[in-house]
Amino acid sequence: MQETEMDFENSIVTSDFTPEDRHIENSLRPKKLYDYIGQDKVKENLKIYIEAARGRGEALDHVLLYGPPGLGKTTLAGIIANEMNVNIRVTSGPAIEKQGDLAALLTNLQEGDVLFIDEIHRLNRQVEEVLYPAMEDGALDIIIGKGPSARSIRLDLPHFTLIGATTRAGQLSAPLRDRFGVIFRLEMYTKEQLSTIVKRSAGILNIAIDDEGAAEIASRSRGTPRIANRLLKRSRDFAQVKYDGVISRDAAVDALGRMEIDDLGLDNIDRILLTTMIKNYNGGPVGLETIAAAIGEEAVTIEDVYEPYLMQIGFLSRTPRGRCATALAYRHLGFEQDGQQSLL
Ligand code: ADE
Repeated sequence: MQETEMDFENSIVTSDFTPEDRHIENSLRPKKLYDYIGQDKVKENLKIYIEAARGRGEALDHVLLYGPPGLGKTTLAGIIANEMNVNIRVTSGPAIEKQGDLAALLTNLQEGDVLFIDEIHRLNRQVEEVLYPAMEDGALDIIIGKGPSARSIRLDLPHFTLIGATTRAGQLSAPLRDRFGVIFRLEMYTKEQLSTIVKRSAGILNIAIDDEGAAEIASRSRGTPRIANRLLKRSRDFAQVKYDGVISRDAAVDALGRMEIDDLGLDNIDRILLTTMIKNYNGGPVGLETIAAAIGEEAVTIEDVYEPYLMQIGFLSRTPRGRCATALAYRHLGFEQDGQQSLL
């Protein structure tokens, strides 16, 4: 399966998967809605939809999950399958290259199964066209032959639930978006929720951590469980080698400082991004592509991975004329409004 690769080396706060994450994240994923922390509104409604579909003996309607990476879209898809007591098939938009790839996936589903397509905005048009009748009528249209003698036959598919996940709902085509009966936007997590997640993960991984250590990691995890779990593992290394094995507040502060993650969770790339905007572009407005070229990152990485949190904490705004660094960002990075580095 083809996956999107991002630059893991530079940044510990990337919310994309590293190979290590993929392995450990599976053991940390809650299996039941009850164990899933946060996203309360989503959980509440989902519980009803699941109970109703189960009560009718039907497959759950198709679900679209969107929001920044690392917030638990894949986890939630697994939970839905679990709660519905059905199998889940996991794939991603870029992995389905041809219509035949999708046809093979669909015809192998059993009644009620979940098909999870991550990065669904990256499906190509031809593949998307196979998906429409499958979602709407439970049918697979296959064209046999070529030219004037070509004809189409229609195969019935088992009832299934498509769960699509995307970081960019705006990039889905309207016909695809319209075929989802349930659309949920996942929100960033609060510090309290992240702290609970960190303690839960520590329990599963047998990591000793106290409340203050967990709170410290939580407050620097950019609202993102995947980052919290990664910082937990790295903090454990520091606690083990330099402290008595327990992630206390001191151990966590030391570990996070050494990883160059500041008290708001910003890493080097965030700081370079904002500093470049302030120093080279007067704080903006500056176009995304321009910033990307200036700091040597992909525009999509900036947009999907860095900007959501910077906007959430009010450090960056998107305007029709480009991105702007806010007064809060200036202050945090020690700049005066005129772009001079303050002497403080
Ligand atoms: N691990 C990752 N996301 C989680 C969540 N929302 N609840 C519990 N554990 C998690």
